[in-house]
Amino acid sequence: MGIEISDRIKNKALLAKVTTAEAAADLIKDGMNIGVSGFTPAGYPKAVPLALAKKAEAGQAPLKVNLWTGASVGAELDGSWAKAGILGKRLPYQTNNEIRNAINAGKINYTDLHLSHVAQMSRYGFLGGGVDLAIIEACRITEDGGIVGTTSEGNSASFVQSAKQVIVEINVTQPEELEKMHDVYIPLDPPHRQPIPITRADDRIGTTYIPCDPNKIIAIVPCDIIDGTRPLAAIDDDAKAMSGHLIEFLQNEIKQGRLPKNLLPLQSGVGSVANAVIAGLVNSPFENLSVYTEVVQDGMFDLIDAGKLVVASGTSLSPSPDALKHFYANIGKYLPRLILRPQEISNSPEIARRLGVIAMNTAIEYDIYGHVNSTHTLGTKMMNGIGGSGDFARNAYLTFFFTNSVAKKGDISSVVPMCSHIDSTEHDIDVFVTERGVADVRGLSPKERAKVIIEKTAHPDYQPLLRDYVKRAADKLGPVHTPHLLDEALSFHTRFIETGSMKVK
Ligand code: COA
Repeated sequence: MGIEISDRIKNKALLAKVTTAEAAADLIKDGMNIGVSGFTPAGYPKAVPLALAKKAEAGQAPLKVNLWTGASVGAELDGSWAKAGILGKRLPYQTNNEIRNAINAGKINYTDLHLSHVAQMSRYGFLGGGVDLAIIEACRITEDGGIVGTTSEGNSASFVQSAKQVIVEINVTQPEELEKMHDVYIPLDPPHRQPIPITRADDRIGTTYIPCDPNKIIAIVPCDIIDGTRPLAAIDDDAKAMSGHLIEFLQNEIKQGRLPKNLLPLQSGVGSVANAVIAGLVNSPFENLSVYTEVVQDGMFDLIDAGKLVVASGTSLSPSPDALKHFYANIGKYLPRLILRPQEISNSPEIARRLGVIAMNTAIEYDIYGHVNSTHTLGTKMMNGIGGSGDFARNAYLTFFFTNSVAKKGDISSVVPMCSHIDSTEHDIDVFVTERGVADVRGLSPKERAKVIIEKTAHPDYQPLLRDYVKRAADKLGPVHTPHLLDEALSFHTRFIETGSMKVK
């Protein structure tokens, strides 16, 4: 077989279940709901998915399956299954080009969900039945059959708990010490649910492994493929400007007595802008920071190196390829500062509200009245999904959304009269930040918000158009609460579709 995993399987009776990826792929049947480990391209199964895709491409596995994950997973799973045409329903989040194209071509039914909701919805059967098969990447199996995850926790524990059968992929590129990061706690469902006993970002409340009845494990497969994490874009001047605005804003909050000197636990979204914002904190005056987030990215390692970060709690460790190498090489230094929890805990509204999280996410566009579109371009095409942004935005103490003021070389304004799709609403968001500046809309009415958003954050190329829209709406409608010209509200978008630019030629 080549890859030796027997020393990582402490329950010796389970050694008899060790098999090849191809044999395990034969256990996947048409119509199954498959719940997998994985959150961002971290900790997802690779060998079995690749073997199934190969069979399907060769015409040996004419099937469709439904794939439930933690969030996005790597190309070995989302990419290869989309290409092989075996995906029926996919949820709750993705970032892979292959699968995005198939979703937007109507070939895959995609359900975009708040990430904290997925485990409970799957336990109740709201997603189209239960989990038929869980496929989980692990670094080891304990004597009791407990499955020790790798670089993500995601929905693994809940999927294993409710699955009829489990396949474990033991990935030998993932060190066994990763166990120290995991904190597995599955809440009971209502009416038996108790308060989740987390009062600080560094509280540990569960086990380091996913409890599993060994009899459920039907196959154990060796794997030596590393996580397909992605490089981050270089931090550009716009991202530096946004990070600078954030730091200045937070310093003023401390001065006003609205934040403690070490801030409150930080949540930061995915992508290059989010990473740049966190990286900017390295040179800030803030000390003893804590992170209560979803994804641990490169910037957080920099904060640990700078001695500024006490703990980073998340559900996935998803650094760039270089930072991942650096993490493995210095694992002893980083592990004590990292905790990975199931996503219904990392993204729990209860905990975000209790800790008073500072939520920082990225928008595709937002509108003059403060609604945010995180998911759709031009109202119709799915980009990635809402991810955890809504879990945090609604429940944080302080909610920021960031975006560049323009996209596509200036032909798209990120500030529009009305969003072409809405994920987070005017009721959720406190502060908007672009490279131009900061709009603090806390406590403002819609008309007050429009003024601040346009004047502080919109690009000068679009400010006159936005001001003109608000004025004409107010002139036409008089003293209404939220002035909109309904026949023009999406005119920025339709102009882009017709002329290739939101600017008026
Ligand atoms: N209209 C159309 N396209 C737009 C656009 C707009 N208003 N704004 C940006 N885009 C395009 C960009 O041009 C870019 O396209 P390209 O890939 O062809 O160059 C693409 O969208 C991504 O933009 P980018 O500026 O690189 O953004 P990003 O990597 O920071 O990602 C989101 C931004 C919103 C897509 C991403 O943060 C996301 O998926 N968020 C939702 C989930 C989330 O918040 N998760 C974290 C919760 S913990």
